[in-house]
Amino acid sequence: MEHLLALQNLHVSYHTPRGTVQAVRGVDLTLDSGEVLAVVGESGCGKSALLKAIMRLLPENASVTGRIVVNGTDIAPYPEKQLQKLRGSLFSMVFQDPMTALNPSMTIGSQIAEAIVVHEPKISKEALRARVLELMELVEIDRPMERMKLYPHNFSGGMRQRAVMAIALAARAKILLADEPTTALDVTIQAQILDLLRNLQKKLHTATILVSHDLGVVARAADRVAVMYAGKIVEIGTAEEVYYDPRHPYTWALLRALPALATGGDALYTIPGMPPTLIDPPKGDAFACRNEYALAIDYEKEPPLLRVTDTHYAATWLLDPRAPRITPPIGVRRHGI
Ligand SMILES: Nc1ncnc2c1ncn2[C@@H]1O[C@H](COP(=O)(O)OP(=O)(O)OP(=O)(O)O)[C@@H](O)[C@H]1O
Ligand SMILES: [Mg+2]
Repeated sequence: MEHLLALQNLHVSYHTPRGTVQAVRGVDLTLDSGEVLAVVGESGCGKSALLKAIMRLLPENASVTGRIVVNGTDIAPYPEKQLQKLRGSLFSMVFQDPMTALNPSMTIGSQIAEAIVVHEPKISKEALRARVLELMELVEIDRPMERMKLYPHNFSGGMRQRAVMAIALAARAKILLADEPTTALDVTIQAQILDLLRNLQKKLHTATILVSHDLGVVARAADRVAVMYAGKIVEIGTAEEVYYDPRHPYTWALLRALPALATGGDALYTIPGMPPTLIDPPKGDAFACRNEYALAIDYEKEPPLLRVTDTHYAATWLLDPRAPRITPPIGVRRHGI
């Protein structure tokens, strides 16, 4: 089957006076119509770089190699003009902070209208108004007739994020790229926004890449989960596989560090150390020096993504038949997301 989106050996580098930051180091990913793929990992592991490479919203000091295949066509070599058309109609991005994504001096209604007009310049006034209302209803903003006349500062954080989603949906994009869309919100509102994302998915059949540093947050929305570390995908599988049968020690560590797991009486676990600098990534498995289950080979040779099932892969030598049998730590085995 042809995928809606396939990333092949994607690399993103930032060239800085201190050296080249290898933010994304050879990522392969596919995304199908109607699915939510979560990309999860600690700060600095390259999640935003990955999304920005797809949207081609990278700064001047960045370079990208690899293929970005949309419905069978590699769009990586497309010039900016051609890409501009794709942004919006094919891809749409929802950023972390709705306040910076919205214009404080324009009403919510006119900002949604503006986004519609960009893609449907010939739309009539009546049709435009109807579409604004339709989008506001779609993102479950109550009393849209009243609220379209309000300004961003009149909206709560969760409402603003809904408005940002309405703007992102205005062009009927096939792929929604959401970078930490709920991080700025409190826990209850986070859950509501993720449920909304899920509902939109069902209604519109959009495909979504949902980026988060929190495995717990994306659990309620993701069909599949890709765990990223130091610019690479270290584990990928269906949500069920990653949450209930995780295989990579980094995924174990992320799961153990979830607050929900600490309620059993454990002191809250934090992953020791820090992710490596991506200017000069370590030899072997980049997680080895923080991994209590590291094998000697991890310091020498990088593990490839090894197959667990047809949908589940993890880059750890623990999956090699010669590796010792290791049971995941307690917090991971009895988690209940
Ligand atoms: N404009 C830039 N110039 C140089 N290096 C950058 C730039 N933007 C990001 N980086 C570096 O690239 C690496 C990946 O950054 P990225 O923002 O993709 O991480 P992230 O996973 O999105 O983290 P976070 O959870 O904090 O958003 C980091 O080492 C970061 O410092
Ligand atoms: Mg980021």
